[in-house]
Amino acid sequence: MIFAGQEVDLLTEDEARSELMRLALALDKANTAYHTLDEPEISDADYDALKLRNAAIEARYPGLKRDDSPSDHVGAAVAPGFGKIPHKVRMLSLENAFSDEDVTDFDDRVRKFLNLEGAVAYTAEPKIDGLSLSLRYESGQLVQAATRGDGEVGENVTENALTIADIPRKLAGAPAVLEVRGEVYMSHADFAALNARQSERGDKAFANPRNAAAGSLRQLDASITAARPLRFFAYAWGELSDPLAETQKAAIERLGVMGFQVNPLTELCFSPTEMLALYRRIEGQRANLGYDIDGVVYKVDDLALQGRLGFRSTTPRWAIAHKFPAELAWTRLLAIDVQVGRTGALSPVARLQPVTVGGVVVSNATLHNEDYIAGRGAKGIPIRDGKDIRVGDWVQVYRAGDVIPKIADVDLSQRKNDAQPYVFLQICRECGSPAIREAGDVVRRCSGGLICPAQAVERLKHFVSRGAFDIEGLGAKQIEMFFRDADLPVRTPADIFTLAARDAANPLKKLKNREGLGERSVTNLFGAIEAKRIIPLDRLIFSLGIRHVGEAAAGLLARHYSSWSAFEAAISAAVPGSPEWEALTAIDGVGDVLAGSLTAALRNRAERQAIDALVAQLQVKPVVTRAPVHSEVAGKTLVFTGTLEKMSRAEAKARAEALGAKVAGSVSAKTDLVVSGPGAGSKAKAAEALGIKVIDEAAWLVLAGSA
Ligand code: IVH
Repeated sequence: MIFAGQEVDLLTEDEARSELMRLALALDKANTAYHTLDEPEISDADYDALKLRNAAIEARYPGLKRDDSPSDHVGAAVAPGFGKIPHKVRMLSLENAFSDEDVTDFDDRVRKFLNLEGAVAYTAEPKIDGLSLSLRYESGQLVQAATRGDGEVGENVTENALTIADIPRKLAGAPAVLEVRGEVYMSHADFAALNARQSERGDKAFANPRNAAAGSLRQLDASITAARPLRFFAYAWGELSDPLAETQKAAIERLGVMGFQVNPLTELCFSPTEMLALYRRIEGQRANLGYDIDGVVYKVDDLALQGRLGFRSTTPRWAIAHKFPAELAWTRLLAIDVQVGRTGALSPVARLQPVTVGGVVVSNATLHNEDYIAGRGAKGIPIRDGKDIRVGDWVQVYRAGDVIPKIADVDLSQRKNDAQPYVFLQICRECGSPAIREAGDVVRRCSGGLICPAQAVERLKHFVSRGAFDIEGLGAKQIEMFFRDADLPVRTPADIFTLAARDAANPLKKLKNREGLGERSVTNLFGAIEAKRIIPLDRLIFSLGIRHVGEAAAGLLARHYSSWSAFEAAISAAVPGSPEWEALTAIDGVGDVLAGSLTAALRNRAERQAIDALVAQLQVKPVVTRAPVHSEVAGKTLVFTGTLEKMSRAEAKARAEALGAKVAGSVSAKTDLVVSGPGAGSKAKAAEALGIKVIDEAAWLVLAGSA
């Protein structure tokens, strides 16, 4: 036992309190080692003994039970996560500018809002491509560090932040409360060295410095963060007990004096012309800075003016990020691989000679489909001037932000004389089934269905995913493992629900004795599977992974048919022309394509067997039909247009739907009401022309009961 400890009965109250703290820390550490790092530090027996001791002390002194008591974690299944920290002052993002004109417009809007004729001064500084962090200092002492999270609530990464050399623990001359905000990032050199170490150890390399910085900061074990060379630039602040200065520039300089790193390229500009000149200068220096930046941020310098300008829902009116254009680079196309997706879609992927595109090493790019490779876009319109892509070609790779790299161009002058046009597979390489392209579809698909191992494994991954069965501890990685497992194979969803029984029936090769598993994780996994035997009908339908049947459609179907038996009987009988088909396609939101795909799936023998075997393992819960909503908008069709300032579009839509309304994307004769925010354009005009009632956000908030 690592915690010898005194007899519980002999502990004084003070001893018990400190013992509970030690136990909470020890259990937390053990959980981290076990669940997050996959490197258990103590035996299962020792872990259980710690938990028992904790429970015994709590039973003796119930008043001392901690808010974060380990007894409140169900079993040991709760993966220890980061604590949550609500931000006193929200952490916002920035509006983007992509062109010179966007910058001039920004300046115009600022001056118009402030009703100013003369020039406004702005700071201009690089936009660091990392992740934002908020550091809270009280009486000059670092007390808390939080990631941005959703802007309202972040993750507590205090321990980790303390390991970053650029972050001072103590400040001299700081206001009593000071939240310093800035960007955590990794330099190019440190990133390259880290990736070299990762690959030496057989660990996965990071795609770019930003991912490496995020992965390093968001570590539950601060010692991992400590071993990663992270840096920090301060550029903003949150809560303050006293103002830092009167201008942005002076405030940042003051943070510099307190000991923070502030970006040396920050400058004052007095006109859009000066802002754009500085943008060009910083863009020119970009390759030599040694760290990734993705644009230039302009901020109104006068803090009193910033205060007057205020915020929109998620961005300040006083700042804008002028982004650099997408990055391009030339490299060699080494091969074209084809991946098979869940619905059999064959997706060609370009394997490239690794090339750095804007600080990121790119070795793969999407090729979308066979038409794209052939130089044909939608409706046969030529793309890349009709140039096709051939293995061995010298190709231009394009990357913008986080999007998957694409091939923008081909240099035909570099093409070898014997280069052959790419011939797309007609037979699936994974299962040998014909790969078929239906009329009107750009995608060619493997027709093997569940016979195709690639489709089967992707289907299983979908089956356990978030909106589907969402089985804790059974993700894509574990599915890959079980799919190929000789002793306890999982080839169809039903196999998941027989895992425990099959394991119990095999006394020799127990799952718990496998490397990296163990009693506790196997018990947790089996428990998590058991918990999902009772499943709501909509989740079950979605989990089947039938083409065109997404979460929304699954919800419609489940509400319409209410029970699995009614659903199954109706779909099995639905052939075009039958009353069942008419009823199916009469559901608002279900068209012929979805109906065709759904009925075909249930008629397919292999599919049907897999589905029946699965359902036999489950108890399917009918979907509870919600009581009809009584609200002024119930049954009406709403359209939102322009910006809403008090709630996001997504929230407004969710709210309207909760009130029984339908939300449409465009105005038509069927629209009952248009909610129009600032910036509304053609939709508001269309509503007017059709004589549809238009209300503003304030009136909407009253209707929505949120005013
Ligand atoms: S100011 C209220 N300055 O960009 C606005 N943000 O796209 C506070 N970022 O969430 C942000 N460099 O993570 C500011 N020099 C800079 C920045 C910067 C990078 C990040 C920040 C923000 C994101 C918005």
